[in-house]
Amino acid sequence: MLKFIIYASKISITLSNKELNDLITEARHSNKTYKITGILLRIDDMFLQYIEGPEKDIDILYQKIEKDKRHTSIQLLDMGEIQSRNYEDWEMLLKKTTAKEINQILKNDQIDLKNLTPTNFNSNTARLILDSLVA
Ligand SMILES: Cc1cc2nc3c(=O)[nH]c(=O)nc-3n(C[C@H](O)[C@H](O)[C@H](O)COP(=O)(O)O)c2cc1C
Repeated sequence: MLKFIIYASKISITLSNKELNDLITEARHSNKTYKITGILLRIDDMFLQYIEGPEKDIDILYQKIEKDKRHTSIQLLDMGEIQSRNYEDWEMLLKKTTAKEINQILKNDQIDLKNLTPTNFNSNTARLILDSLVA
C-alpha cells in the first residue's frame, strides 16, 4: 500500500542554508533507497512537506522527522492511502517561497502573515499550496 503524509513545522533558528542543502542531499539519497518521493517547501521560516511511498517506510521516516532537532512545532496536517504517486519523479523536490506569495495562491483560506506558525495551515490550504506550486 502507498501512503502519504503532509505536515508543517517551524525551522530551527540555527539551520543555515548550507545545512538545509545538506539535509536535502541526504534525504534524496535515503529516499531513493526506500522509494520515497515528495516535496519539501520552505515558506519563510517554516517547512511544509509532503512524503509518499510504501506505508511502512513512510511511518518509519515520519517518526525520524518528528524527532529531528532541525525543526520544531511539527503539525501533522493529513495522511492516508493513495493509489498512485503525485511526485514520482522527485526523490525530494525543494522549493523556497514566502508567506506573501502563498497568500496570492490561497483565495478564501488566507494565512495570517503576522502570526505565522505551523498551525496556520490545514489539510486544505496545504493541498492548494502544493498543487499550485507543482502544477
Ligand atoms: C524538514 C525535514 C525534512 C526531512 N525529510 C527527509 C526525507 O524526505 N527523507 C529522509 O530520509 N530524511 C529526511 N529528513 C531527515 C530525517 O529526520 C533523518 O535525519 C534522516 O532520515 C536520517 O535518519 P537516520 O540517521 O536515523 O537514518 C528530514 C528532516 C527534516 C528536518
